[in-house]
This record gives sequence, C-alpha cells and structure tokens, in this order.
Amino acid sequence: MKISVFGAGYVGLVAAACFAESGNTVIAVDIDQKKIEGLKNGIIPIYEPGLKELILRNQSEGRLSFTTDMVEAVEQSLIQFIAVGTPPGEDGSADLQYVLAVGRTIGQHMNGFKIIVDKSTVPVGTADKVRLAVQEELEKRSSHLEFDVVSNPEFLKEGAAIDDFMKPDRVVVGTDNVRTAEIMKELYDPFMRKQSRMIIMDIRSAEMTKYAANAMLATRISFMNQIAGLCERMGADVAAVREGIGSDSRIGYDFLFPGPGYGGSCFPKDVKALIRTAEESNYDFLLLKAVEEVNELQKEVLANKLIKTLGSADEEQPLTGKIVACWGLSFKPRTDDMREAPSLTIIERLLAAGATVRAHDPEALAEAKKHFGDRIEYSTNQYEILDNADALTVITDWHEYRNPDFDRIKAALKQPLIVDGRNLYKPNRMKETGIRYIPLGRAG
Ligand code: UGA
Repeated sequence: MKISVFGAGYVGLVAAACFAESGNTVIAVDIDQKKIEGLKNGIIPIYEPGLKELILRNQSEGRLSFTTDMVEAVEQSLIQFIAVGTPPGEDGSADLQYVLAVGRTIGQHMNGFKIIVDKSTVPVGTADKVRLAVQEELEKRSSHLEFDVVSNPEFLKEGAAIDDFMKPDRVVVGTDNVRTAEIMKELYDPFMRKQSRMIIMDIRSAEMTKYAANAMLATRISFMNQIAGLCERMGADVAAVREGIGSDSRIGYDFLFPGPGYGGSCFPKDVKALIRTAEESNYDFLLLKAVEEVNELQKEVLANKLIKTLGSADEEQPLTGKIVACWGLSFKPRTDDMREAPSLTIIERLLAAGATVRAHDPEALAEAKKHFGDRIEYSTNQYEILDNADALTVITDWHEYRNPDFDRIKAALKQPLIVDGRNLYKPNRMKETGIRYIPLGRAG
C-alpha cells in the first residue's frame, strides 16, 4: 500500500519505518527542512533503540522516503497518517492547530479517495473537526472527492517503540466505514500475532480509548506512590504489597512500581487534557485531578528525603555545602527524553536548597544541559560524580544502575548514603555494604 505519514516526530517516524518494513511504500513528510535533510542523510533526530537501523534499511531498499513536499505526499498515497504534535495549550487542552493544518492541506491537494488517519493523540471529537477541515477545502475547489477519517491511536512506549509497533497487544481502529475497516485490517495484518487483537469501534470511542488507557496507567502509578508513602509510615514494605495485590489477576503486576512521579510526553499531557475535556462538558473528573496532584507532590519526595537526612537547620538553604550526585535524568530508561522528567523538579529543588548537584545519564546529558546549563556538573562516568559527594540519589532506573560496584560507591561518598527513587537495591544487601540506604515505601 502507499502511505504518507505527516509529522516525522516520535510516533510518525516509528510508524513510517515499521509500515515500510512490512513492505509498504511510505513517504514521511515534515515541514522542518533541517530534520528532513538530516533524515535523508541518515541522521535520526531521536534516540530509540532499533529505529536507526530500520530507517536506513528501508530507505536504502527504496520503501521509505523523506520529503517536505506536502503536495507530493498527499497525491501519492491512499492512506494519510496524521502524526503531528498536539502540544498542551495554556489551559492544558491539546492544541489541534497542526493536526487541522494537515487536514486542510489534504483537502487542498487530494486527487482521489483518501483514508485520513489520526494517529496523534487527539481529544474526542477531533476526527469530526478534521473531516470538516478537509470538507471545507474540497468545497472551495468545488470538488466531490470522497474521503474517510479514521482514529487509530498509538500505544507505543518510548524505549520499546519498535517492538510495541511490530508486536502490538492491540490495534484500535475507530471508523464507521466497513470498506475502510477492511483496508486498515490489511495494513496491520503483518504485525498481528496470536495474542494481538484488532479492535474496530466507532470513532469517538477510539479517541477516548487512548486517553482512558494513559489515564488508567497514571492512576495506578499515583495510587501506588501513595501506598508507598503510607507503607513508610506504617512499617510495611511496598514491594511485598505489590506482589500481594498483583497476584490478583484482576489487578496484575504491571505499572505498580512507586517512583519519583511519572513524567514523559504522554501521561502528564494526556491526564491534563482529559481533565480539560471533562471540564468542557461540565463534568468534574475528580479522580484525575487527584492523580495529577499526587504526581506533583511525588516529584518532591526524593529531595525532601535528602533534605531531611542531610539538611542543616537553615530553613532557606538547608543543603548549603552539600554535594548530591544524581543517577538518571531522562524520564525513564532507554531514552534521552527529558520532557516532564521528575529529575527537573528534583534538581531544581536541590539547587534551591543550596546543594551542589552532579549528574550522570547514559543518554540525556545533552538534553539536560539545555535545562540546567552550567548550574550543575555533568559526567559520562557514573562513578566519577560520586567523589566526595554527600549522597547519591537514583532518579531513573537505567540498567547500568542495577548492579553497581557498592565498594566503589562507599569509598567515594563522604558518609555513604543512597536515596533510591526506584527501589533498585535489596535492603538486606545494602545493610551488608554499610551504606545508609533510603528507598521508597519500605525500610532501608
Ligand atoms: C506511555 C504509555 O505507557 C504508552 O502505552 C503510550 O502509548 C504512551 O505513553 C503515549 O501515549 O504515547 P511512555 O510515556 O513512553 O508511554 O512511558 P511509560 O513507560 O509508560 O512511563 C511513563 C512514566 O511512568 C515514566 O516516568 C515511568 O518512570 C513512570 N512509571 C511507570 C512509574 O513510575 N511506575 C511504573 O510502575 C511504571
């Protein structure tokens, strides 16, 4: 099939590469000339395991091309994926200007039947707006060409995006047209495994499914972060509690890990947008407001623990003279993405408290420099930043932090202390090392 993907961002690039890999001819189009020039020359603007190889192979085999030429992209392909950004507006609602601009471009240049697929995360009702935008442009041209608008939300996780796309749990397609449903089935068929499900539903339900899924996952995390807070105060162990409740098949084990708060480009934005959508319908989504508030508070927890343990009586700057080493800056492992990363809040808090902050991250140092400049120190060596520091705090659960050299850590830190925001280490083992250990939701 011939496919155009508008928006060479995260979702767009992954989708374009994977559709090309399954044999389709794919044009990826973006208005950012620099980005497209780079892609033509094999420079991939984001870090995602496996993506570069996939792009280069399909490009060299002629199934994947990059362009800034919207007209060509519209004319050449039957299926038009919209995968442009929907940044949050000031009030938290998703800004649809880029999505609708693509809709208008398609309306201006389409030359036959087109299937227009919303892949960007867009609020309920967006497909109708896209349809209207296309229709208006067709009317200006006095054209009666037919088209169909489909909602096909994306559920991929950063760091595992290729696998998520190639082996999906489910593919959700919202359409009211049987013929279009058949074409979408054919398109996704190469990715479907025995366990995968293709779920066809009406358009509004598909749009809502995306937000409901992310909101549900964010709810689980905030819930577990509060259970962890209570465990600490009651002498219980959140890891044991997770095992205990996760074994109930209705609950399951996933997404019940306490942490420094959820971050990234999806959960924070989508939770806000759903609260906003509810408000627009005069509906108070009380639960999600609490999920968000709990998450904001959770980002303070690690800094609070450090201040409580190391801080002086100075109310304003209790960490003056203290050095804190941070492991992990990206919002999660296997990505350099720092959007809404808890590390941003934690480090600002430590700096405000007067601490000297040193940071290590396997991928995100360049991103981090954009935020902190020379206000903190950076190193590509995770041990180097420990020399003479007063504490190490683990913010992101990168693999390289899971089994560190504790002797080295102990020798490097002044009075060895680890504040662990990801519960990476076993409290018993830590007792043997002689390092003071403060995890989340359990005794150290
Ligand atoms: C999330 C969803 O998991 C994807 O299904 C969805 O497609 C994507 O958003 C999206 O809407 O595009 P992503 O933001 O890449 O994916 O990252 P996650 O792996 O879900 O992690 C989000 C945050 O939750 C991270 O900060 C992570 O550390 C935190 N988290 C996750 C926890 O604190 N505890 C957990 O148990 C799991």
